[in-house]
Amino acid sequence: MSNKDIYILGIESSCDDTSAAVLKNDIVLSNKIANQTIHKKYGGVVPELASRAHLSNIIPVVESAINESGITLNEISAIAYTRGPGLMGSLIVGSEFAKSLGISLEIPIIEVNHMQAHILANFIDKGNNKPNFPFLGVTISGGHTQFILVEDYFKMEILGNTLDDAIGEAFDKCGKKIGLNYPAGPEIDKLSKMGDENKFNFPLPRVKGGNISYSGTKTAFINFLHNNMEKNQNFINENLHDICASIQKNLVDNLLNKVKYLATKKNLNSIIFGGGVSANSYLKNRLDVESRENNWEIFMPELQYTTDNAAMIGIVGYLKYSKSELSDLKSTPLPRYSF
Ligand code: KG4
Ligand code: ZN
Repeated sequence: MSNKDIYILGIESSCDDTSAAVLKNDIVLSNKIANQTIHKKYGGVVPELASRAHLSNIIPVVESAINESGITLNEISAIAYTRGPGLMGSLIVGSEFAKSLGISLEIPIIEVNHMQAHILANFIDKGNNKPNFPFLGVTISGGHTQFILVEDYFKMEILGNTLDDAIGEAFDKCGKKIGLNYPAGPEIDKLSKMGDENKFNFPLPRVKGGNISYSGTKTAFINFLHNNMEKNQNFINENLHDICASIQKNLVDNLLNKVKYLATKKNLNSIIFGGGVSANSYLKNRLDVESRENNWEIFMPELQYTTDNAAMIGIVGYLKYSKSELSDLKSTPLPRYSF
């Protein structure tokens, strides 16, 4: 590879955000995201509505990312797009768009695994402050809770997964039960700041090995609300902050127990987070304490690169392009794309 600059257009459309980004090598020039508010009133993502919204968003989002980047489409070296995992209808919009644009510009396309991208987002704009291999990658989002041994950019081994709900899903489902809008994670984070995390206790699931589980917590939470509402109709309103802080503590305790177990077992002291739930401020505070106690080095992407975004797809595109790992037009979306 010559040392000529590489310009990557990244496209992400795996779930309910349509995003496009332009990178010059590992530096982000622009990162545009169109959030789909349509799902709010349904309390979760409706796949059919998501793909329709991607269709109307994709061209304006790409145009705006190109305009803001200060470069022209003709200068783009390759187009990176999310191949999966995600919703089939949503993935098709991004991948077909990437392929058509690639054909018309006569440049290569590069398929990207969304879960690898959440981890590799930690290499965006980092200069000399990059995480060193090996490390424990922890992806925590609305669709996934995954623990990964990362030995090199593309040498990743899954150590564990959620057996049922993802941590973000647990935040969202518990939030819904107390009347919060989707996605409830950020709202629970905010409301908890004025609450007592030790006011209510919920059992911690006991799952052996690297896997984790969240569905039992959700059931325990529903029963807890039901029992207390029977005694006091206003229980939720009167205790909202304490309820949020207590359930948040339980969800984070469950995660940190598993992180501690795997970091010890694999002898890793570098821990890298990715995915929407990394934005949680209580988790960050707990990690400050835990990293001092356990001698961990913690990495998190900048806030705008933790939730679904195309810059993380672009960085993977850049890393693959540098190794000449290109895709061809036969590559189809994979809703259950593993690595
Ligand atoms: O990575 P992401 O944007 O999309 C998926 O791939 O799922 O993650 C979205 C998830 C949602 O479940 C949302 O409630 C959660 O991340 N989330 C948070 C916070 N911000 C986003 N959960 C807890 N605290 C937050 N501050
Ligand atoms: Zn994601």
